[in-house]
Amino acid sequence: MVDKVEKKIVPGMHPDLAYTLLTEEEIHRKVAEMGRLLAAEYRDKNPILVGILKGAVLFASDLFRAMQVPASIDFMAVSSYGASTKSSGVTRILKDLDQGVEGRHLLLVEDIVDTGLTLRYLRDYLEGRDPASLKVAVFLDKPSRRKVEVKVDYVGYEIPDEFVVGYGLDFAEGYRNLPYIGVLRPELYQ
Ligand code: PRP
Repeated sequence: MVDKVEKKIVPGMHPDLAYTLLTEEEIHRKVAEMGRLLAAEYRDKNPILVGILKGAVLFASDLFRAMQVPASIDFMAVSSYGASTKSSGVTRILKDLDQGVEGRHLLLVEDIVDTGLTLRYLRDYLEGRDPASLKVAVFLDKPSRRKVEVKVDYVGYEIPDEFVVGYGLDFAEGYRNLPYIGVLRPELYQ
């Protein structure tokens, strides 16, 4: 059972936000909880966390720190298929892993799964590199937007179909460094 979010107006939140969905404290608590769960799973496996740039950079770093077991971290960057088009998914790897991953335990870390196209592509790609295991941890899941089925092993929160920013998520590269997650005022992007 995945936790759901609630809208709230938080004093001092960024003026471009209509409301907050997750406060800094809620994010911190959830990452700590996921970190404990993953530490138990990966205690003797020396996993490689694979963060997907750029959105996942905050979550991947926080989760890595929260796990407190021997582990390493690497990053990939992919070019996205664009907002309105295609059903085939990602396109091109802009930055690949720095190391071989054959026989290693991989944990793919994403900030959000939306249509699922990016994740499906990355899952297939990483499976093809013969890891010992591959699991996926995402902080936010927007199940109502899914276009393709993709397995997600660990989810932080389920969210409705709204334009969320903060904690790594951007609009035109802005807002990624907000320590909380909120919904952008529609007049700013419509
Ligand atoms: C976001 C997010 C995922 C992807 C999810 O990345 O980080 O990688 O979209 O969407 P999907 O499930 O519809 O494929 P984005 O392309 O916005 O790039 P960014 O991480 O650099 O912001």
